[in-house]
Amino acid sequence: MKIPETVAIIMDGNGRWAKKRGLPRTAGHKKGADMIREIGLAANELGIKKLILYAFSTENWKRPEEEVGYLCKLPGLFFDRYMKELMENNIKVTFAGELDKFPQETQNVVNKAVEQSKNNTGLNLCLAINYGAQREITLGIKKYAQEVVDNKRANDLSESEFSKYLFVEEDIDLMIRTSGEQRLSNFLLWQVAYAEFIFTPVSWPEFDKQCLIDCIKEYNERDRRFGGIK
Ligand code: FPP
Repeated sequence: MKIPETVAIIMDGNGRWAKKRGLPRTAGHKKGADMIREIGLAANELGIKKLILYAFSTENWKRPEEEVGYLCKLPGLFFDRYMKELMENNIKVTFAGELDKFPQETQNVVNKAVEQSKNNTGLNLCLAINYGAQREITLGIKKYAQEVVDNKRANDLSESEFSKYLFVEEDIDLMIRTSGEQRLSNFLLWQVAYAEFIFTPVSWPEFDKQCLIDCIKEYNERDRRFGGIK
């Protein structure tokens, strides 16, 4: 089975999963965080190089204060519980997004996990937090334009070079969205140029290792031509 190098997941459906069980939405997010552990370990075992998970979008600030507060606390709870296991499995933690908008405590726990795991050579587990693709592209353009204005480089940007100005440099091979919706919600718009898409009805709290394997099997059935012919 061919394993995609870079996989991205829109972890949707936590709220609906909780509601169906008569639980508060935060219980869905808690279970969702546990699934990050399961899918991270599975992706590492399968030999995926980078897994990018949409944990908090630039639009999620619109949610009720209580839910936003809980989502800000989750990285701390997650790393307290699972960092040891991630280290034992050689998993490297990174993030994509504007972390500095989060409470100092959240920034500290994420930075600590990144620092602690920076020399690991297994899966790159990248949490997209306070991430929005349009914002990412805008920031990249501003950075590049400033370099041109400062005479640090010529006005000769190529597509592959532009990727270096983004939070996520890699092209996505496989993009998965759980819980039935079929949209991208401002996630990795530049990087999905030739990605394969899988929209599964399974909610994120129920998306287990077997679901990931099934997605990779489906990916193997796709004929990727990258605009060429075979
Ligand atoms: C979408 O479901 C999910 C989110 C907006 C948050 C995802 C966050 C996690 C899975 C946990 C993050 C944990 C760490 C450690 C970073 P939804 O709430 O929109 O669900 P709904 O569409 O059913 O309401």
